[in-house]
Formats: sequence, structure tokens, C-alpha cells
Amino acid sequence: MRTQVGIVGAGPAGLLLSHLLHRHGIDSVLLETRGREQIESTIRAGVLEQRTTDLLTEAGVGDRMKAEGFVHHGFELAFEGKRRRIDLTELTGNSITVYAQHEVLKDLVAARVEANGALYFNVSHTSIDGIDTDAPSIRFTHDDAEHVLHCDFVIGCDGSQGVSRACIPAARRNDYERVFPFGWFGILVEAPPTSEELIYARHERGFALISTRSPTVQRMYFQCDPKDSAENWSDDRIWSELHARVDSADGRHITEGRIFQKNIVGMRSFVSATMQHGRLYLAGDAAHIVPPTGAKGLNLAVSDVRILSNALQAFYAESRSDLLDAYSETALKRIWRAEHFSYWMTRMMHRLDDASAFEQRLQVAELDYVTTSRAAAIAMAENYVGIATV
Ligand code: DHB
Repeated sequence: MRTQVGIVGAGPAGLLLSHLLHRHGIDSVLLETRGREQIESTIRAGVLEQRTTDLLTEAGVGDRMKAEGFVHHGFELAFEGKRRRIDLTELTGNSITVYAQHEVLKDLVAARVEANGALYFNVSHTSIDGIDTDAPSIRFTHDDAEHVLHCDFVIGCDGSQGVSRACIPAARRNDYERVFPFGWFGILVEAPPTSEELIYARHERGFALISTRSPTVQRMYFQCDPKDSAENWSDDRIWSELHARVDSADGRHITEGRIFQKNIVGMRSFVSATMQHGRLYLAGDAAHIVPPTGAKGLNLAVSDVRILSNALQAFYAESRSDLLDAYSETALKRIWRAEHFSYWMTRMMHRLDDASAFEQRLQVAELDYVTTSRAAAIAMAENYVGIATV
């Protein structure tokens, strides 16, 4: 089996890259360990930056997102019993779209299938060889048969637990990591929206976030112990925790409904630098993780892919390798900006067990500052809608 670009992992990064390359006449094969149903139903985040929606639209996969997603021009910060609005559009000229990641995946898979793209689900025993040569290959098993995919480049889009990152020699890699001692408890609820915009809440009991999926389905999260189990939380206990953290002193309160999904996710920050070695390039979660506060994960994957697809086009169309050579350095500028923003938002909004009463007052002072100073509000808003570093 032979292709130009072998892509390991059919998450948002791998699927979008394969689709963009196809539109520029570059052939790729996509390998995924999970099944199609599984990737299309795994619940993840739902905030898309304007640059993300622009690229999806340009790539011809934005129709359903336009019809079913919700454009938000601001969000609210809740603290000390009050709520204050950050007006994204007024402050930055940009907005965000709330459209679930698994819906983006469904649109991308449909586009790949329609274009007869080579997309293998349920593969196993994936290994990568020859990245130090001009002829790397990927070995994998599919339908009980062993295959070898020969290619010009291997792109690792296989998430933080995938096989790709480990192929970069340890001596060339620096891993930067911060694990947070808390997680997010996420629920999906059948209810009308609590508010027209997202609410990020800081409370002594911990962080909470009220988001949405549709006029009838809402997404809510609250800070929890990452080692806790969803079974320990009855619906009543969840609602009383959310009311305590989000309801405001003026009587505005969250709208309850039937909870039909509960899950707990851990939180960490991680960056692998370099993101490339020889003919192997990493994109998305394979190279970096952000805590979910600020919703940068999917947007970062899309920004890696934008850079990489331009670089691969320059290689095939103009025999230029300078953009490929600069890939890691170019991508890392945007990644570190988003790492800082996600870390900053996380530290400002969560209950930090090691924080003294003094540091807790600093959190409130900072929230007060970003919601009253135009300069500080712009700094928050431009990061939230996404800063273009390239
Ligand atoms: C959602 C997730 C986030 O991490 C965030 O910051 C905002 C919204 C969501 O799932 O809707």
C-alpha cells in the first residue's frame, strides 16, 4: 500500500488534514484504532473559534455547523454572587460558535467518505518505521490482515496516548507538564438554556460552567475530585452543587432538567517540543494538552493542521521544505499562547486547595479587573476568540 501522507488517528486533526490535502490533490491514508460510531459519539467540548469555523467553511464542511451551531457574541463571568459580561464582539470584532466536537467529526467523516478517502477504522498493532529516511512506513493490522503503508510523510494525530510521539527520540524531546489536582464533572441535560450565553463561575465551593448544545440540550460542568466516581453523584446532589456555585444574588438561577449523561475528566497542561523529527510531524493532542477552561483543545488541533497543510502543499506544489522545517516552531507560538491562557483561566476560576485566603482574594480581584477594565477585558476576549500568530 502506498500514499503520499500517512495519517495516524482520525480525530479532528487527522480528518481535517486528510480532507484539506485531498482538496489540494495530495493523497493520504487515515488509520484509526477506534470504530466510526465511537469517534462520532464521544462527547467532548463545543466552542469553536472564528478562525476554526472559517477554515471548516472554506474546506466545504461548514454547512451543518452554520445551520445548527450557535454564534455567541459574549459570555458571562459569575463570582461573588454577581454576573458580569465579556462582550467578545464589541471588544475584538470576533465571535465564537457553540457546536459540539463530535458533530464536527461527523461532518468530516462524511466528507472523507463522500470523496472516497482511504479511511481505516478499528486498526490495531500500529507502528511507524523509517522516519529518519525519505521513505517512512506505517505497519498496521486491519480485518486480521497485516499491512504496510509506504508514504512520504507520517503525521501523528493519535492523541496523547498514541504511538506517534514516542517515535521522536527522547534526546530530541522536551516534555513540559502540569497536572491539576482537580477535574470536571460533565453532564448533559434535557432542559432549555439557563442563559443566552455561557456562564463561567468561580465560587468557594469550586468552578462551574454552564454551556449549551441546542435549545433542548444543555452542557454543564463543575469542578470535582478527578478520582471521584460519577456514581457517587445523585441528580439531587449535582443540582444543589450547581445552584450553590452559579445562582446569583439577584435571583437568576440555573434551569434544571433530566440528566442523561455524566462523566468526569482529569485536567492537565502538556507540551511536547519538538513536534517533528525527520519525516514525522505531530498535530493536536499528540503534541499538546490544555485544561478545558477556555475551550482551546480542538481549536489548537485545527491551527496545527492549518500550518501543516500549507507546509505540505508548499512541498508538493513548489518543492519547498522551508515551511515543513519551521512547522514545530511556527505551531508552538500559538500553542504556548493558548497554554498560558488556559492555565491562567484555570487558576483564576478554580478552587485551589493549596491557595491561602490571600490568594483567593487575588482571584476575585483579578475577576473584578477583567470585568471592569477595558484593557484587561480585551486581553481576555482576544485570547478567548483566538489569537492569530500566523
Ligand atoms: C464547553 C467546554 C469548555 O471547556 C468551555 O470552556 C466552554 C464550553 C462545552 O463543552 O460546551
